[in-house]
Amino acid sequence: METTILKIKRNKPGDLLPAAGILQSGGLVAFPTETVYGLGAIYNDEPALLKVFAVKGRPADNPLILHIYHLDQLGQIVSSISPAAERLIQRFWPGPLTLIFPKKANVSPVVTANLNSVAVRMPSHPVAQELLRLTGIPVAAPSANLSGKPSPTNGEHVINDLLGKIEMIIDAGPCPAGVESTVLSLMGEEPIILRPGTITREELETVLGKPVLLASGKEVDRPQAPGMKYRHYAPEAPVTLFEGDPGKIVLEINRRLAEKVDGQKIVVLGTTENIGKYDNEWVLDLGPQGRPEIIASNIYDLLRFCDRLNADSILIEGITDQGIGTAVINRLRKAAGGNVINVS
Ligand code: TXA
Ligand code: MG
Repeated sequence: METTILKIKRNKPGDLLPAAGILQSGGLVAFPTETVYGLGAIYNDEPALLKVFAVKGRPADNPLILHIYHLDQLGQIVSSISPAAERLIQRFWPGPLTLIFPKKANVSPVVTANLNSVAVRMPSHPVAQELLRLTGIPVAAPSANLSGKPSPTNGEHVINDLLGKIEMIIDAGPCPAGVESTVLSLMGEEPIILRPGTITREELETVLGKPVLLASGKEVDRPQAPGMKYRHYAPEAPVTLFEGDPGKIVLEINRRLAEKVDGQKIVVLGTTENIGKYDNEWVLDLGPQGRPEIIASNIYDLLRFCDRLNADSILIEGITDQGIGTAVINRLRKAAGGNVINVS
């Protein structure tokens, strides 16, 4: 298939009309959001939805998020909106918060993987908003990467994964947040974060006025966000994540580097404060320790860069599991596939 690449600096009226036309006629369009790029299909066209799963190689039991640009669209897809949801919408939409609602009957089981709930978000990225407005129909969109790969945070990442497989890729440069939206379920007794993101637990608790739980991600057999059970966000080379005391992490990584076999390409991802301390040829800068939002915006690009370097092994310095750092650590643990060394 011929993929049209549409480069957009600042959208002018009409630029996105062809993209909206492709979606309306059942085609697939990759588009930027403030979190990561999404692979869009209209929510009410089952063949188009099935193509999304096929193109990504995504397991059918991992449901999709529906994207809307206006609150008027919410009533088409959800059957009720709780007062708690209303408060969160008021405060965080448009923005990187996905909420789980009871679904309306017309939402296809292909979208929800047979669950009785549906995930919805209203992105704040101007290109996403304009595309959704012109399309006029809610758009289902998982991240626009091949399943299991790091999510795409710039146009080049999407082109690498999906060129020749979908009708259009809209390239509007890097995504500001760089990790996927916070997914919050209000379906149970207590609000629970199914996937941490740049909207933090503390921010949600402030608005809701009560504690918010965080899914451990260890519910492998009965995961709450079905996507959590798969190995995710992973580059080709095995990843080892080091968590604990920052000083000891540097020592432990250097100890392993000293044991390196000749010719083996080990890539270290370290914080700005520590990159000078690693005794290695390849050391990449995650960003400053106290600025997890910068690390979040770099992380997927760095993981993909490790593939370009043909790394044999990747050693990553963990950061504090707090605030936006929780989202970063969550993705790194998944990239490591459980290969986490605690050095506290
Ligand atoms: O930032 C984002 O959310 C990006 C952009 C493109 O909007 N999208 C994204 O989609 O990350 P995806 O498909 O890669 O991740 C969707 C997550 C998965 O973990 C999935 O299991 C969960 O949302 N999810 C979707 N519907 C759900 C539901 N009804 N109940 C629980 N979890 C759900
Ligand atoms: Mg994804």
